[in-house]
Amino acid sequence: MSLHLNTSVFGNENNKGNVLTREDAVTLLNEWVLNDRLQLHMKQVAHLMKCWAKEKEQLNEADQWRWEMAGLLHDADWDQWPDQHCKKIIEELETRQVDPEIIRAIASHGPIHFGVEPQTQMDKMLYAFDELSGLIHAYALMRPERYKNMDVKGVKKRLKDKAFAANVSRDDIKDAADRANISTDELIEFIVNRQGSVE
Ligand SMILES: [Fe+2]
Repeated sequence: MSLHLNTSVFGNENNKGNVLTREDAVTLLNEWVLNDRLQLHMKQVAHLMKCWAKEKEQLNEADQWRWEMAGLLHDADWDQWPDQHCKKIIEELETRQVDPEIIRAIASHGPIHFGVEPQTQMDKMLYAFDELSGLIHAYALMRPERYKNMDVKGVKKRLKDKAFAANVSRDDIKDAADRANISTDELIEFIVNRQGSVE
């Protein structure tokens, strides 16, 4: 079964800057994602997107929320409609007249799966955080101290061990870091120092 979206146009340019309120986005998340682990993953990626937008891109609060919203909803349809993954949330956000850039970031968070190339920095960072965030969280869960005193070396060891969190695509992690032109070490360090605050 292919999840290819077979289009490269998402949303409507006239909706640029349109966002959901935080309340509406969280309501959608709660209604669509019944799996707590998946919700946590989406909240973690959302937090990383917000932090990156603020700290590295020096974006204003409105733009930080656009990045955060892309992270918060990127897997919204995965829990209940895995065979329509990405397509369903895109259609929902298009109906709600959301900013096309946010929709596009969601559409390109897995180029191999959805057939959409990440272009903007928002696209690239969502792709870069997605799998790596999951691997680091799996590592935290097996450490008594969780995120405390976690270092890059420990994460890289787990990254090399293909049996650890085997469903996390190492190819995607490398491809995403290359496309974002950021070293895996820098991404790991960024995540390790921020992800623990999301529960
Ligand atoms: Fe994800």
